[in-house]
Amino acid sequence: MAYTYAYKPKVKSRSEVGSSRDVLREERQGLLATGGNGDDWQATRASLVRPVVQAGRQGGYGAVAAGNGGPRSEAPSFRSKAKTLLSAGDGMTADLTFENVSVISVPKNGSRDDTRNLTQLLNNVSGTVRAGEVMAVMGASGAGKSTLMNVLTNRNLSDNLMIDGIVKVNGTELGSAISKISGYVQQDDVFFPTLSVREHMEFQAALRIGRLLTKQERYQRIDELLNLMGLTKCQHTRIGLPGIEKSISGGESKRLAFATELIVNPAILFCDEPTTGLDSFMAEQVVNVLRQLAKRGKTIICVIHQPASHVFNMFSRLLLLAEGRVAYHGSCDGALRFFESLNFPCPESYNAAEHYIKTLAIAGGHVAECKEKVNAICDAFERSPDAAEVRKSIDVATGHEQDLRSVMLFDQTPSYRVSALVQLRWLVWRAMLDNMRNPDMFRVRTIQKIVVAVIYGMVYLHGVKPTQEGIQNINGALFLYMTENSFAPMLDLVAVFQRGIALFKREYAAYMYRLSIYYLAQVLGWLPSFAIDASVFCVITYFMVGLVPEWYKFLITFVICIITANVAAASGSLVSTISPSIDVGLVIAPTLTVIVMLFGGGVYLKLKTLPPYLAWLQWLSWFRYGNEILGIVHWQGVTNITCSADPQLPCITTGAEVMADNQYDPAKLGFDFGMLAALYAGFHLCAYFVLYTKNRKRN
Ligand SMILES: Nc1ncnc2c1ncn2[C@@H]1O[C@H](COP(=O)(O)OP(=O)(O)OP(=O)(O)O)[C@@H](O)[C@H]1O
Ligand SMILES: [Mg+2]
Repeated sequence: MAYTYAYKPKVKSRSEVGSSRDVLREERQGLLATGGNGDDWQATRASLVRPVVQAGRQGGYGAVAAGNGGPRSEAPSFRSKAKTLLSAGDGMTADLTFENVSVISVPKNGSRDDTRNLTQLLNNVSGTVRAGEVMAVMGASGAGKSTLMNVLTNRNLSDNLMIDGIVKVNGTELGSAISKISGYVQQDDVFFPTLSVREHMEFQAALRIGRLLTKQERYQRIDELLNLMGLTKCQHTRIGLPGIEKSISGGESKRLAFATELIVNPAILFCDEPTTGLDSFMAEQVVNVLRQLAKRGKTIICVIHQPASHVFNMFSRLLLLAEGRVAYHGSCDGALRFFESLNFPCPESYNAAEHYIKTLAIAGGHVAECKEKVNAICDAFERSPDAAEVRKSIDVATGHEQDLRSVMLFDQTPSYRVSALVQLRWLVWRAMLDNMRNPDMFRVRTIQKIVVAVIYGMVYLHGVKPTQEGIQNINGALFLYMTENSFAPMLDLVAVFQRGIALFKREYAAYMYRLSIYYLAQVLGWLPSFAIDASVFCVITYFMVGLVPEWYKFLITFVICIITANVAAASGSLVSTISPSIDVGLVIAPTLTVIVMLFGGGVYLKLKTLPPYLAWLQWLSWFRYGNEILGIVHWQGVTNITCSADPQLPCITTGAEVMADNQYDPAKLGFDFGMLAALYAGFHLCAYFVLYTKNRKRN
């Protein structure tokens, strides 16, 4: 496959496309870089185009296109120029065509051969959108709008979908590389709730633009985008979770989603219901922004629900879907004529958009009738001159396949904009900020630790003495170090990979970071809270309980508390990655903890009595190793255990006897530490492998 950039001399130019390209040409010549014509958007746009990009386009990409199909030896210069672009779509104009797109869903566990199980979600949907156009995709709920957007953007495609059809940009199939030239404002806004609007933009800019811009330039770009989207006022407000904690408004959230996608100046912008939930004034503003973007040469495809008349009239093109088929595709005016020709004229005082949706809706109680009507409309459209026009446009585009080598080369250059270290730094920053700012996860947890530690200390306050009764109390106290430092960290991480999965998938699809770095950042992000919790608990209880006040013993206990928390958290990571949902994870995690606790020996079980078919489980129990270390450290060198008054009762007088009774072997201290390290690494490696397997496909 061959790909090219903006200039498309072979494609017939149309008036609006021509005007948008003119603007781009102006930008290339640096005319807009000075801005200052009073038009907000224009000024913003001018500063959004970096001089270096203009230089790249001026000298490079025009020449590239002129040398369409030129020799491969030019590759290094393409590559070096590609590195100066904010994205593969930066400065490019893109005509999108899609031909006979069909999607069939297969139910989970259903066979693809059993046609009774299959549902047709899209049926031979074809269309075109040119650079400079804003196309509205409309249809009743369930008509297949989001499914079409997902196919066009090559994202969010579940494994149970069978997809057919051809999607081309400038006459060339890009496949998954379409994500490199396009932005996708999805139906649901997914953000990190604890970040502020500005912090979110800083994170996005850092990982999506990277070193292409200096920090100052990035901040300037953020300022401009926030200003453009009307978000300056709320830039320091936390994004929050709508309905759960105080957050930015729905409209602000939608505009933030736009700002996020525009950060790399994509050539095509897909928007799934950007105006849903907004008042008509806000909706108009959003669509107005889309129009302005189109005027600058962008290709906009926008799913929209029930727009007000004046908002509907702002679109230059319309695609009406009904029951997965095309009911109409063409100009907005043409739709009126088409429906009129089928005896569905739009009443005088009626909003045309509402009229189409109503005509194409499947009303409950009249399903068969409505489906028949919808099919008749779709059939009529297939025979109409509008459909013939669409087919012709697709053929023209196909006949003028563009050489998009630069996009290919962009694809071949390292996909990530920043180094692994920078990715890690930003991801850890975000994860830590999230932990620290989440009152449930941080403050409340620390308070809970203090309360539990004090109660625990009070329970053992006078019970830890070198007597026959004290032996059990000491062993019990030591074992509680294991339990208390296992449950919470494990449960903390059980939800970690599910909670952020939607955001992760989007950011991962946008090549913002590597999977391994994301995983590592999640682990590192939790380290401080585990360290703080374990330290608080250990320091308070050690002295309240009255364990031997020796530095060595205290230090080992302290270290074991922290290691235990981390090993438990690693097992929580594994549970999180293997569980299909948080709920399932929350069932698996406590079960696993009880098992490892039981097989940890100590107060619960003499390990040598285990039946052989279960004995292997002890090797997975971090309780076993941690408990043995604590037992050895605290009983070693103890020789003064007093016997009870009743001479009939058995008497243990030394720590060595206690260790022998509990099967603690002082020679195994190093082995135990090694096993804790091995379990920590093993759990994380398995968890990473599962995460990797689940996310091999980047969409
Ligand atoms: N992965 C999938 N598996 C099975 N069915 C699916 C899948 N994705 C979507 N569908 C079904 O396909 C139909 C179209 O869904 P889609 O989300 O595209 O509708 P929509 O037009 O965007 O609706 P809305 O306006 O409510 O967002 C729906 O009936 C939906 O249940
Ligand atoms: Mg939808």
